[in-house]
Amino acid sequence: MYTKIMKIKENCNDDIIEEASKVLRDGGLVAFPTETVYGLGGNALDESVARKIYEAKGRPSDNPLIIHIGEIDDIIKLAKDIPSKVYQLINKFWPGPLTIILKKHSIVPDGTTGGLDTVAIRMPDNFIARELINKSGVFIAAPSANISGRPSTTQAKHVIDDLEGKIDVIIDGGSSTLGLESTIVDFTEEIPTILRPGFITLNQISEVIGDVIIDLPSTDGLFAEGAPKAPGMKYKHYAPKGELFIYEGELEKVVSVINEQAKENYRCGKKVGIIATEETKDDYDCGVIKIIGSRKDERTIASRLYGVLREFDDINTDIILTEAFVNGSLGDAIMNRLLKAAGYNVIKV
Ligand code: TXA
Ligand code: MG
Repeated sequence: MYTKIMKIKENCNDDIIEEASKVLRDGGLVAFPTETVYGLGGNALDESVARKIYEAKGRPSDNPLIIHIGEIDDIIKLAKDIPSKVYQLINKFWPGPLTIILKKHSIVPDGTTGGLDTVAIRMPDNFIARELINKSGVFIAAPSANISGRPSTTQAKHVIDDLEGKIDVIIDGGSSTLGLESTIVDFTEEIPTILRPGFITLNQISEVIGDVIIDLPSTDGLFAEGAPKAPGMKYKHYAPKGELFIYEGELEKVVSVINEQAKENYRCGKKVGIIATEETKDDYDCGVIKIIGSRKDERTIASRLYGVLREFDDINTDIILTEAFVNGSLGDAIMNRLLKAAGYNVIKV
């Protein structure tokens, strides 16, 4: 299949949005930027389009898709039994990196929700995403625009690497500013439950709606109740091609163990990559060193995470060694993705 790549300019993008909107209305697939990661979009209310999305990504069809809407009021067209706390939360955080899970109306096909009777809904903040939803008149089902299991995509180049030839259009709208997927809150449980941590943190949510719990695996990857509530959380995710190891402990010790391991692997003929921070970049002396961001501002780390993993793939790195990042607020979301990418390979030093 020919994939048309359309680059957004500073202004005069009406033609691009119009053309992509038509592709969506005709049942085609369009990858587009959002503020979190790029999405692989198609008409959410058309089951045959959902099948195409799963096929293009190589994603298991029991892993449901998030539906992207353009107006808060659209929520009632897709979901029922909406608790008042949902409105408190979305009035505060929409448009933005927050996804809500609710009981679905029958208009939403089972093919979009992986057979569940619930639906995930998000109103993105990115201007291009919103233009696309509003101009197309289509509710857009969009998983992250990557091959299933690979790191998510935060630039059009990443999407081209994974999906060129498999979808109709890729809109190049520059880098996703946040770089990690939305926080998912499930409102079909008695107590609202965070199924995936993200930019909107547990504290921010509980400040608005009170009690909220978080359904996270421990560092060995096991969930308290045996199975995660978001089907996608059980699959291998975000993984680079090289083997990724996380080193956790006092930073000085972490740096010294990473240096030792880098040298040992280098001597064995392996191509070694190191994920460093602004604070530690000068302390490493072996391997390919990439700076992910600054510990003083975790947002810089979040926005570079997938890009760094993909850069190591581009140069065929065999082993990637990374420092752990502090848990709590945004660190929860960063560590959640990093742990999965590493298949829970954590070395405590
Ligand atoms: O930031 C984001 O959320 C991005 C952008 C494109 O909007 N999208 C995204 O989609 O991350 P995806 O498909 O890669 O991840 C959606 C996650 C999966 O883990 C899926 O299992 C979960 O949401 N999910 C979707 N619908 C659900 C439902 N009804 N119940 C429980 N989990 C659900
Ligand atoms: Mg994804």
